[in-house]
Amino acid sequence: MTPILVASVLPADFAELGRDVAEIERAGVDRIQWDVMDGRFVPNLTFGPDVIASCRGRVSMGFEAHLMVEDPDPMLPRWVEAGCDIVIVHAEACRHLHRTLSSIRDLGARAGVALNPATPLAAVADVLDITDLLLIMTVNPGFGGQRYLASMESKIAAARAEIDRRGMDIELEVDGGIGPLTIPGAAAAGADVFCAGSALFGGTNMTERADALRTAATVATAAAATHEINGRLVTR
Ligand code: DX5
Repeated sequence: MTPILVASVLPADFAELGRDVAEIERAGVDRIQWDVMDGRFVPNLTFGPDVIASCRGRVSMGFEAHLMVEDPDPMLPRWVEAGCDIVIVHAEACRHLHRTLSSIRDLGARAGVALNPATPLAAVADVLDITDLLLIMTVNPGFGGQRYLASMESKIAAARAEIDRRGMDIELEVDGGIGPLTIPGAAAAGADVFCAGSALFGGTNMTERADALRTAATVATAAAATHEINGRLVTR
């Protein structure tokens, strides 16, 4: 499985978003994550669908809206109209999560559900059948540049095991503190989609940074899938 690399726009220059999303596409990143924050679900405030729509025509790559907001239902259509093909809601923010995920799919988008670090995998066990993407937060959401929570790797591994056991076609994404030193652990645990912000921005060559992240994830995934039996390396 080729790792999917997603760029968070949180570290971008919000005065030059059109320029920065074009740079992300040139760097070969697969998708852009729009970190939508309402100042209530998380202690930060970012942007609405009109900002996303203003960048839609600048690039052809996929957009995912990560809704770190209380009660996402009323505005679901707006994110799809703005050009997002994946809409991710937080399990903790939805009173009727099954209905919300169904509504996202009814709008023609892929349905994603995110779990904060304190939320167990069991919170989504009964909606995986209507889920296209499971996002496991590896930081407490609200800000970029935070320390990766390696303690989430057991949750990532449990999610990978459950997805594989049920033979489901669900992307398993991680987000928060993902960089060259942390992506191997997340990949080895079973993640196949990696969202990075600080690790992609702030340097001179985003393409090199993206390539290094993808290579690190690929190597770690392959190593985790290969194990030794009777002295011979066997790939699962
Ligand atoms: C958390 C944000 C961040 C962002 C990536 O609320 O959603 O996780 O996407 O931030 P970095 O990669 O800088 O940790």
